[in-house]
Amino acid sequence: NDSGTAAQKRRAGESAAAEVTDGMVVGLGTGSTAAHAIEELGRAVDAGLDIRGVPTSFQSRQLAVEAGIPLVSLDEVEDTGVDLAIDGADQFDAAGHLMKGGGAAHAREKIVDASADRFLVVADPSKESDPLDYPVPLEVLPDARTLAAERVRDLGGDPDLRAAERKDGPVVTDNGNLVLDCDFGAVEHPEALAADLADIPGCVAHGLFVGMADEIHVGTATGVEVR
Ligand code: A5P
Repeated sequence: NDSGTAAQKRRAGESAAAEVTDGMVVGLGTGSTAAHAIEELGRAVDAGLDIRGVPTSFQSRQLAVEAGIPLVSLDEVEDTGVDLAIDGADQFDAAGHLMKGGGAAHAREKIVDASADRFLVVADPSKESDPLDYPVPLEVLPDARTLAAERVRDLGGDPDLRAAERKDGPVVTDNGNLVLDCDFGAVEHPEALAADLADIPGCVAHGLFVGMADEIHVGTATGVEVR
C-alpha cells in the first residue's frame, strides 16, 4: 500500500536525504523514518557521494555500517562540525517543537541534532499534534531515578519507569541510564516544561526539542510537504 505509513516515512526520509551534498558531515537519526534516509544515503554513497556520518544511536550506527556510510565521531569533526542532521520524531507541533525519545535515543540525538548547522526532521502526518501530548521521555542517571520521579510529580507529571520488552527489568539506554516516561497530558508550554525538566538533578536529557528543527519533511500519500 503505497499511501500507507511506511511509504510516507520512506518519502520523508528520501526527501531529507536529497538535501545532502558532497563533502558533508551528516547526523544520522534514529527510528524507522530516519532509517529510510540512511538507506537512501547508502545508495548515494554507492553511486559516489562523499560524506561522513555521525550516528545518534547503536541502531543508526548499525544501519550506517550496513549501508556503507563512512562514520566519524563528533570529536573528529571538532573543526568542521556537522553540516546537516536528519532525524525522526515521535511528535511535532505547528511551531516546530518536537517530542523525541520513543526509542530512548534522545540524549545523543539532541547532541548531534543541536551540533548541526541544519536540522531536518522526517515524519509522517500522524506525528503532528497540537499541543504535544506524548509522554516526555526523561533519561536519568540510575541513582537519580527516585528523586527525578518525585520532581516530575511535583511538576504535575506522572512518571513511569520504561520497562524492557524482552528482558525482566528496565530499558537501559545506549549510555547506561534509565528512562522515565513522564505523562503531562497536553503540554501547553513546551519551553517552560523543558527548562523545568532540565533542572532535575540527574537528568541527562529530556525528549522535548524546543526550537531546534529547521525543516520538517512530512511524507504524505502523494509526496512530501516541507514545513
Ligand atoms: C528515538 O529515541 C526517537 O527520538 C525517534 O527519533 C523516534 O522514535 C522516531 O521513530 P520513528 O521514525 O520510528 O517513529
